[in-house]
Amino acid sequence: MEPLVDSYGRRIKSLRISITDKCNFRCTYCMPAEGLPWLKKAEILTYEEITRISRIAVNIGIEQIRLTGGEPLVRRDVPELVCQLRQIEGLRSLSLTTNGILLKQQAKALAEAGLTRINVSLDSLDHEKFRQLTRRDQLDGVLAGLAELEKHPSIHPIKINAVAIRGFSEDEVPIFARLARNKAYVVRWIEFMPLDADQIWRKEDILTGGEIKAIIEAHYGPLTQITTGDPSETARRYTFSDGVGEVGFINPVSEPFCSTCDRIRITADGQLRTCLFATEETDLRSVIRSEATDEEIAQVIRQAVWHKELKHYIGDKRFKRANRSMSRIGG
Ligand code: GTP
Ligand code: 5AD
Ligand code: SF4
Repeated sequence: MEPLVDSYGRRIKSLRISITDKCNFRCTYCMPAEGLPWLKKAEILTYEEITRISRIAVNIGIEQIRLTGGEPLVRRDVPELVCQLRQIEGLRSLSLTTNGILLKQQAKALAEAGLTRINVSLDSLDHEKFRQLTRRDQLDGVLAGLAELEKHPSIHPIKINAVAIRGFSEDEVPIFARLARNKAYVVRWIEFMPLDADQIWRKEDILTGGEIKAIIEAHYGPLTQITTGDPSETARRYTFSDGVGEVGFINPVSEPFCSTCDRIRITADGQLRTCLFATEETDLRSVIRSEATDEEIAQVIRQAVWHKELKHYIGDKRFKRANRSMSRIGG
């Protein structure tokens, strides 16, 4: 069978599926304080539709699926979806990106459903800063969620993603790094991207991965790069000379990784996006709600993938904001 490729020869292997646009936090770099007009239930893909699309996508070359949101765990019965997706033959990896606040209640059921990979978004370990950024005073809830995850070793490694913002993130870099030095955690910083709903992003707000690495090395000595041979990996990964975990830098702005991108996304309302910064989408929901056969749906996915964008143009005159902000894409 023809592999799933775009017109630049990139082979697409990773599908990120947003299962809800709702979130229980209001991070300033993502969503407005008042939230956004939520999608209606009928607009959102059902678990059956998600599973069908996933099976078709895996059939034509997708190997990894990541569930995202909004906050995915606010949707009911996520473990059930995990069970359904796990049964897809040929799917190599199934993972979830969450803000962690519901893990205390749900980690056990997710582990029992067979989920083995979870990334937790956590930008500050200071109560006041956490409250400012997320507009919710719930750091302790997220920490309880991480503690719960530690009880389920089938989910590993525990990954933490922190969005790095100049003037906000610097002072906690050594504190986060210490976490990865003392525990088998993977801590990664993501450069701030112009995907916030309030349009507060400015180029000057970016704190680069290079700068963060320098702060860590000044504290803990030189880091050693891990090479995995996977060119589509988003993070540059490092270990400490005397630590158990690892740190990583996701540098989409200072070191774009578009030339090796293997990702496509489906929004909660069933729109296929071939780039985070896409300005056009393919309406998979209409297709799946028509009488289309699996092969016809596969053809729609292939067509969309073929037209995948070359790259993003952040920092360039050609840059156009995406037609959705991050919480409606999924990250
Ligand atoms: P693993 O390495 O498998 O854990 O997955 P991942 O790197 O995709 O991790 P995760 O889902 O936690 O993504 C972390 C963040 O990296 C996302 O929320 C985005 O902010 C950023 N990111 C992921 N993929 C892309 C991409 O294709 N383009 C850009 N510009 N940023 C991305
Ligand atoms: N820039 C970079 N990362 C972002 N995220 C949300 N908004 C942005 C942004 N503007 C991250 C979240 C989470 C993931 C889903 O996307 O922190 O890790
Ligand atoms: Fe892929 Fe678009 Fe992200 Fe570039 S900006 S890495 S093309 S999703």
